[in-house]
Amino acid sequence: MKITVIVDNYVSKRDFLAEHGFSVLIETEEEKILFDTGQGYALKHNLELIGTNLSSINKVILSHGHDDHTGGLRFFNEEGIFPEIIAHPDIRFPKFKVSEMGKRNIGLKIDLSDFDKKTFSKEPLNVDKYIVFSGEIPKENRWELGETQYFREEDGVLKKDPFADDASLYVKTKKGLLVLTGCAHSGIINIVNYGMKITGERRLYGILGGMHLKNASERRIEKTVETLYDSKPEFVTISHCTGFNAGVRIREAFGEKAIFTGVGDVFKFDL
Ligand SMILES: [Fe+2]
Ligand SMILES: [Fe+2]
Repeated sequence: MKITVIVDNYVSKRDFLAEHGFSVLIETEEEKILFDTGQGYALKHNLELIGTNLSSINKVILSHGHDDHTGGLRFFNEEGIFPEIIAHPDIRFPKFKVSEMGKRNIGLKIDLSDFDKKTFSKEPLNVDKYIVFSGEIPKENRWELGETQYFREEDGVLKKDPFADDASLYVKTKKGLLVLTGCAHSGIINIVNYGMKITGERRLYGILGGMHLKNASERRIEKTVETLYDSKPEFVTISHCTGFNAGVRIREAFGEKAIFTGVGDVFKFDL
């Protein structure tokens, strides 16, 4: 299996474009799966640079409704290419961020009606023999939650976003479980624990994706890194929304097993 970082906040190679967002291309012998699509500026350009076009993508799996993960769907609409979409049903709620910049709509802004094949699931779903879509992730560690700026609109009322739609992919590799995250709004430890539970895998091989620890307390960062360290993964990436503070801490703890990702990076895994 080959995974290429297509959208990230950083670039690793010349000619690629970065933006605030995340997307990876997963290539197996059978298919090409896009996990997230970025914000909607860089996706097509970066895919073309690696010689991939939108029409060769069989499935688009969305980690959640935020526009820095769903915005790139616009390229599919524009070109009239409609791969299967897999996501949690709650991605469709209007979502807002309330901060010093005011109230901003950061939800799904793409019309999904032309995508005929859509699978919305709260339950875990086998994407193929090796890849499992998490569905809804139980938020068992309450200490991993506590975001105050994120809301969703239910029947015209703004409510604290429970991040029900935050989903991950679990890949069963030869060396253990590979966890792919979008923003990890459910909390990275909750995500890893749920993956172990539903796949029955006891070895954590690696984590690739954002951890959304940019504004997290030192205490939460410390506890997260310590708990991850105890799980003995072979690598942990610092990507998208993990943030500088958590990134430094991850590097300190994991040394060379901490990998700072950017657009154009390629990972290969034995299944
Ligand atoms: Fe994000
Ligand atoms: Fe997000």
